[in-house]
Amino acid sequence: MKPRNLLLLMLASSPTWANSPQQILDSLVQEARQVQPGFTASAARGEQFYRAKHTGGKEADSCASCHTDNPKDEGKHIKTHKAVEPLAPSVNKQRFTDPAHVEKWFRRNCREVLGRVCTPQEKADFTAYVLSVK
Ligand code: HEC
Repeated sequence: MKPRNLLLLMLASSPTWANSPQQILDSLVQEARQVQPGFTASAARGEQFYRAKHTGGKEADSCASCHTDNPKDEGKHIKTHKAVEPLAPSVNKQRFTDPAHVEKWFRRNCREVLGRVCTPQEKADFTAYVLSVK
C-alpha cells in the first residue's frame, strides 16, 4: 500500500479523530464489532440500559440517577449535588464530541454504577439512545 493510503486509512479508523456525535457512535460500533461481528447498535437496548437498576456499583444504581429520566434535562450528581449538563447532543452541543472525554466518563460512571467497565456493546447502545433523543 502507498504510504499516503496507509495514512488515510489510519485517519479513518482512529477513534481519536472522531469529532461529531455520529462519528463517535460509529467508532463505538466498530469497537463492538471486534468483539461481536455484525453488531448493530440499538437505541431501545440503550434506553433500557440507561434506565435499568444495576447492581455492583457503589455510587448509584442507574445512569438516570445523575442524568435524570430524560437525557435532555439537566441532571444532578446524587452525592455532590453539582449540576450535570444535559447528556443529549440535541440540546448540548458539547456532548459526544471529544472521544477522550467520552471514554473517561464511560470508564468512571460504569464503575460507579456497575462496578465494572461497560462492554463496547453497552457503550454503543447507550450512545445510540442518547443521540436518538431529539
Ligand atoms: C454519580 C453520578 C453519575 C452517574 C450515576 C452517571 N453519570 Fe455519566 N456523568 C456524570 C458526570 C458528573 C459527568 C461529566 C460532567 C459533565 O460533563 O457534565 C458525566 C458524563 C458522562 C458522559 C460524557 C458524555 C460527553 O460527551 O460529555 C458519558 C458518556 C456518561 N456520563 C455515561 C454514563 C453512563 C453510561 C452511566 C450509567 C452506567 C452514567 N453516565 C451514570 C455523572 C454520572
